[in-house]
Parts: sequence; C-alpha cells; structure tokens
Amino acid sequence: MYILGIETSCDETGVAIYDTQFWESGQAPYLGLVGQSLFSQVSMHQEYGGVVPELASRDHIKHCLPLIEEVISKSSLTIQDIDAIAYTRGPGLAGALLVGTSIAKSIGFGLNIPCIGVHHLEGHLLSPLLSPDLQLESGETLFPFLALLVSGGHTQIMLVKGIGDYELLGETLDDAAGEAFDKTAKLLGLPYPGGPEVSALAKLGQPGRFNLPRPLLHSKDLNFSFAGLKTAVLTQTKLFEKNSLEQQKQLKADLAHEFVNAVVDVLTKKIMRAVASTGCQTIVVAGGVGANTQLRNEFSRLVQNSSGELRVLYPPIDLCTDNGAMIAFAGALKILNHPESVDQSPAFDVAPRWPLTLA
Ligand code: KG4
Ligand code: ZN
Repeated sequence: MYILGIETSCDETGVAIYDTQFWESGQAPYLGLVGQSLFSQVSMHQEYGGVVPELASRDHIKHCLPLIEEVISKSSLTIQDIDAIAYTRGPGLAGALLVGTSIAKSIGFGLNIPCIGVHHLEGHLLSPLLSPDLQLESGETLFPFLALLVSGGHTQIMLVKGIGDYELLGETLDDAAGEAFDKTAKLLGLPYPGGPEVSALAKLGQPGRFNLPRPLLHSKDLNFSFAGLKTAVLTQTKLFEKNSLEQQKQLKADLAHEFVNAVVDVLTKKIMRAVASTGCQTIVVAGGVGANTQLRNEFSRLVQNSSGELRVLYPPIDLCTDNGAMIAFAGALKILNHPESVDQSPAFDVAPRWPLTLA
C-alpha cells in the first residue's frame, strides 16, 4: 500500500509517500520512504521573529499541490497508485491545518480512497523508527519504549506501549524546550528559529561564567518548566548590557553555553528517571530539539556508560523538524494496526488543540 502523507500544521509544507510493505516485512522500516518533499516558510516568517498564522496558511495553499505532484513523479508513481492519504489533523494552527486537511479530503474523495487524520505529535513520536540505524531482528519488537518529545510547542515524556497506545508520564508546565530556545535566541539577538542558532553560539562559549537554574530537576515527578530559565537568561543579559560589544559577544556565547547545558541536563535527567521507574531501556527522541547536537552528545555518553543496555534512537536529522514523511509513516502504521480509524466520509474537521492520549 502506498500512503501519501501531508503535513501543514505550522510553517513547513511537507509531503511524502510511504510504502507499507517495508514495515510489514519488519526489518528496515526506513526503506519504505519512497519519496518526500518539503517547503520551509522559515525565511518568510523570519522578519516577524515568529510564525504569522495567516501568512502560513496562504503559503501552504501555494505549495501543497505542487509538492504532491513533485513527490508522486519523484517516486515514479501516478496519483492512481496512492492507496490512502494521511494528513495532519492537529494540533497546530487552525488555518494551516485546514489547508492540508481539505486538500487530502478532496483528493481522497476524488480517487475514492480512504483518508486518515494523524496527530502531529504521533508523527514525531514514531519518526525515530525511520532511522536507518534501526534494523530489527525477525520477530523483534521495540515496544514498549520511552519517547522524549521536544518540539516548539511540546515537551513530553511518553510511554509508548504500541501504535496508538500512549501514556503521558510528564510534560512541561509552561514553555516547551523549543520555545525556550526560541525566546533565548531573541534575548541574545539571534534570528528565528532560535534552536540551531543558540546551539551554534553555545559551541563558542565556555563553561563556568554563568550558573542558570535547572527548573524542576529535583521534583519527584517527570514534569518540566522552562519559563523561569528564559527569565534567568533575561536577567543575565541585562547585567552585561553596558559591556563593550566585543565583551558582550563572548558573554552571550558563554550564556548560550550554560543555557544549552541547563536544558540538556533537565531533559536527560528526567528521561533517565523515567527509564529507572519503568524499566524501559529504549528511548526515542523526537521533535525539533532532538536535532540538537549537545543533547545527542549527552545521550551518547549515557549510552556508553550503560554497558549496552540503554538504546537511544533518533529520526534522521532532516526528519527531526516538521515533515511529511512522519505523517505518511504514522498514517501507514495506524491503517495497518487500527483500520477502524480510517475515514471514508468526505466530511472533515481539524483539531488545533488535541491531546495525544485522545488521538
Ligand atoms: O518539531 P518542530 O519542527 O515543530 C514543532 O512541532 O514545534 O520543532 C521546532 C522547534 C523550534 O523551537 C526550534 O527552535 C527547535 O525545534 N530546534 C532546535 C534545533 N533545531 C530546531 N532546538 C535546539 N537545537 C536545534 N538544533
Ligand atoms: Zn512538529
């Protein structure tokens, strides 16, 4: 079965095709990704310092159909070869979601093929299974595993017991990790999106000069809080405003270094606490912040120290941020495992706020 995936929840138009026979054969799921295309709106939103919803919707309208045509021809298929369509139904920007959803439903209705509304975070959550590093032995299963979801809007720890069977173990009480990166970038005078920028600046910084808080590090639960961290960054930047520009450059790098360390510290300590309490030794890291090199380095260190028990999986780096491949893949797994969730009706809605545990 060929599943066409369409992602338009925020500022990326992503389209891809997943061939389910590679999942069903069980050994190298990533081979099923037969084609994908992406258009990022980042440069358009950059001048506003964040995503402008109306501009995002209009741009999805412009790019979605051409990308679908491009992916189908790149995959040497025709539209008649598509067996089902998966689209992001939520959460996200209502107008942006409506673009992908209405296009998916129209094509589905025209071709008389089923559609399936996918939860955006379920796409992120399952995307590490598309890692080329994942080779399953015959009969081997990854479930249950722990998922660390770190995107621009969410920071959650999930226990994934199976496809569609997710237990929320902890989440952020205020800002998401990606949001903290974006806000810190603004405070340091860096452009949107801030994650990669702060991360790059942090590599030029030195440890020891700043000492930022590690919010909720010692709380007994698995929740996070990043709003205070951003405020602490603001307080520090105010203190060095009067320094020379040259001095400020190094101070900003040192502060970025400490900021990234604080975020990585909290994320890794909390997920390791979840490892201890559940006994699950497989962690998948998904969402935009999962592309962060400092976070990946710390996980590598933890894996090395675990004498082979701990396993950490990531999506390929280009699938960490929003993309159509994760939606095609999650839709494919839902159709295979929960055929009852497939929708034949031409009616549709979107779900801008949609808890994953209800998906
Ligand atoms: O998953 P995603 O593409 O979109 C959402 O669903 O939110 O995540 C975007 C977030 C942004 O906040 C961005 O700054 C952050 O991921 N991000 C990073 C990195 N790349 C993207 N944060 C830290 N380090 C990175 N390398
Ligand atoms: Zn996302």
